[in-house]
Amino acid sequence: MWSSAIFGSFARALIVALLLHIAPTDARQKCSLKARDQAVLHPVDHGPVPSPTSSTIIGTATVTFNGKPSASPIYNYSPYRYGMDKIRGVNIGGWLVLEPWITPSLFDATGNDKIIDEFTLGQYLDPGKAQTLLQQHWSTWITEDDFVQIAAAGLNHVRIPIGYWSIPLTSSDTKESTDSSPYVTGAWDFLLRAVSWANNHGLQVIIDLHGAPGSQNGYDNSGELTNNPVWAVNQGNISRTVDTIKFLAKTFGSDVGMIELLNEAAGFRGDDWANAVRQYWLDGYAAVRASGGQDVQVMIGEAFMGFDAWKNFLSYPGAQGVFMDYHEYQIFSHPELSRSYDDHINFACTYKPTLSTFSVTSLYTILGEWSNAITDCAKWLNGRWVGSRWDNTWYPSSDTQYHGSCDGYTGSYQGWSDSYKQFLRKYFEVQVEVGEAGQGWVFWTWKTESADEWSYQKGLEGGWIPQNPTDRRYPNICK
Ligand SMILES: *[C@@H]1O[C@H](CO)[C@@H](O)[C@H](O)[C@H]1NC(C)=O
Repeated sequence: MWSSAIFGSFARALIVALLLHIAPTDARQKCSLKARDQAVLHPVDHGPVPSPTSSTIIGTATVTFNGKPSASPIYNYSPYRYGMDKIRGVNIGGWLVLEPWITPSLFDATGNDKIIDEFTLGQYLDPGKAQTLLQQHWSTWITEDDFVQIAAAGLNHVRIPIGYWSIPLTSSDTKESTDSSPYVTGAWDFLLRAVSWANNHGLQVIIDLHGAPGSQNGYDNSGELTNNPVWAVNQGNISRTVDTIKFLAKTFGSDVGMIELLNEAAGFRGDDWANAVRQYWLDGYAAVRASGGQDVQVMIGEAFMGFDAWKNFLSYPGAQGVFMDYHEYQIFSHPELSRSYDDHINFACTYKPTLSTFSVTSLYTILGEWSNAITDCAKWLNGRWVGSRWDNTWYPSSDTQYHGSCDGYTGSYQGWSDSYKQFLRKYFEVQVEVGEAGQGWVFWTWKTESADEWSYQKGLEGGWIPQNPTDRRYPNICK
């Protein structure tokens, strides 16, 4: 078991995870402090609100499924009005971009302990075997029935992460390389299929570019776990990303509700990164408007830089239809893990004025990722082979602290206490309240294999997520 190869990848994952998770957590804490201290801004006009349209077939997507091509009509019959209706949605995590903790069994099925993310899966697995494994995953992890369930749960949006490597740019689309190796390609057909499923069931899609060339943050969920992400410090990588957005905008236009330019860009890594992110938002916005028209919304992220960094940035009338994405987790440091149930609720409430103020004064803002987790106990949440801070199984660690056993906090909810489930309901409701103080929310994530506290689907089944997301057991939670 403890061969040097295994230990090598084990140690690498640990060290990388340790380095990475300390930095963003600190940045996150810093920005939340800043956000709470932010000065009162002046309200701005968000511009015209799109008017409802009637149902029309606006195009077709040609997809291949199980090797057979088929064409599904794309309907645009859901007259969702951005700026008037609250966004209520789920992320489709762990589907078209892999995360070891969402589907640990897929990583086990590789039979290779060095595979810790989608990049290494392509790198170390036989290409035929990798293609079979991923086709199997893509065609089963999420199906149209999930979209039926999501719509039935009263939700109106799905946010779908996709990696740059899955988007089939040709040399006519970019001056940069179109090479995707070592990644396995093929997820694109499923994205097309998902857009038509969403349209079939009245759901709006947020296409979320979750992995950029060179990695925009070094997290495994960017495709590549690395302590040396290079996206922002390499102009070729950035140009290719703008061209990728152009391709997405040209392909989908207003067939989707929103295009999110990039997930969790690591603006905390230094001025060069912060400046690159800022310029990329401007260029990405222009690319969407030039290739996708005026009707699709564009989402940027606060990039761990705090809301103050984005005052009046890309706001109307210089730009229009721009949203800000903020992510809220309270589990990636010991101080956060030390919070009591009430502390978690109260801390979430501190974002309420921040989101509402920024939404009124600069950009419509949503909580684009958040969950019910109050521990980091989900298996491999911190990386494949990496333990949890919560129960002190995160090695090597310079700041060890034991918060308790992971039993009863993750895995199947069947073994959870009533008081924990009651808290989860309250924690769900408070974050909904905070999100809706802005323009809404998108829960992370719809489905997980073995971490029910992160699963919207299991929350519905287990009762800590209401069948109707507007139901309140704890109205006006934030005093
Ligand atoms: C990102 O930039 C690096 C450094 O120039 C380059 O080697 C790499 O090929 C680029 N990545 C992609 C996927 O284009």
